[in-house]
Amino acid sequence: MRTPGLKIANKFQRVCVPVAPAHPVPDIVDDAREGLLRPPRSLPPKYFYDEAGSLLFTKICETREYYPTRTEDRLLASHAPDIIRIARPGQIIELGSGNSQKTRRLFDACENTDHTCTYAPFDVCAPILEETADQLQAEYGWLHVTPLLGDYHAGLDHLPAFTGRRLFVFLGSTIGNFEPGEAHTFLREITAIMNPGDYLLIGADRVKDTRVLDSAYNDAEGITAAFNLNLLEVLNRELDADFNPCHFRHKAEFVPERSRIEMKLVCNATHQITLKELDETIAFLPDDEILTEVSYKFTHDGAEKLLEEGGMNVVKHYEPENRYFSLILGQFI
Ligand code: SAH
Ligand code: TRP
Repeated sequence: MRTPGLKIANKFQRVCVPVAPAHPVPDIVDDAREGLLRPPRSLPPKYFYDEAGSLLFTKICETREYYPTRTEDRLLASHAPDIIRIARPGQIIELGSGNSQKTRRLFDACENTDHTCTYAPFDVCAPILEETADQLQAEYGWLHVTPLLGDYHAGLDHLPAFTGRRLFVFLGSTIGNFEPGEAHTFLREITAIMNPGDYLLIGADRVKDTRVLDSAYNDAEGITAAFNLNLLEVLNRELDADFNPCHFRHKAEFVPERSRIEMKLVCNATHQITLKELDETIAFLPDDEILTEVSYKFTHDGAEKLLEEGGMNVVKHYEPENRYFSLILGQFI
């Protein structure tokens, strides 16, 4: 008889290459102990992305209100030929690749110029990685895809080495989900594993009208709310906890003083949660909050500074007419 684990492994043809942590990282038990037991409560965003969370994220990207995906995709569609012409990558390696939807623009540009390369998507979510790798392999016969499964906070030192020129890709303004100090450290870590001549393509969302920002994280259909609340299901499963999503509501707003969206789960009713895995209980009162995500918004120069302070030169800075989003190509020399 086959075990359920084997069935999952057999569902997709491609099996991910696990990337061992280069240094120890806290697991969900450590993070919950650190972040949930006393206020101010917060959790790292990586726990959003179980299979259900990743599917909800794909739906967020398709909402009318969430302009970043559309905007970045259009920028890529326009400028991918230029990016490929400049970078001539032997490998495209993408951090937090998700469904790799927008990255297809780069593969299309390769195809149109008879440029071939390999693709290494790196993500924490195995099901989305495997499904995406299968789809890409079917769509782009020439593209050799090696999905890498791991946590990029665990360090990048154990990514498989590559001798040709690499184009690192970090899209979706995921860099904005890092605290500024973490973003700086992360970009330095990328530079540290780059060979001279390697490139980084990064997407960064820009400061703009607060109403546009707020509505991007408060879509009318409630998909972002469902994505935020799904975190409680992850905690229930992983920590043997008893969160009732009905006792919390989604809140997301732009905080101009910090130039960031703060996304929270806000408690509606006095109640107590038991986390069996931690052997702890938490007493919640109405309006108690858990900070679940920050999303920094950058200025034109602030976005370039990210790369420069990371040790790279800015080669190109693409932005649309409305300046809603930046796509920056940097090079390590
Ligand atoms: N690049 C895609 C997806 C962005 S969402 C886009 O622009 O649409 C963020 C992605 O990063 C998700 O796929 C999530 O699973 C992944 N991710 C989040 N935290 C991660 C971590 N610590 N290590 C590796 N991947 C992570
Ligand atoms: N990097 C994306 C952003 O900051 C991630 C994201 C989009 C997100 N929508 C979200 C994270 C909703 C949490 C909730 O825009």
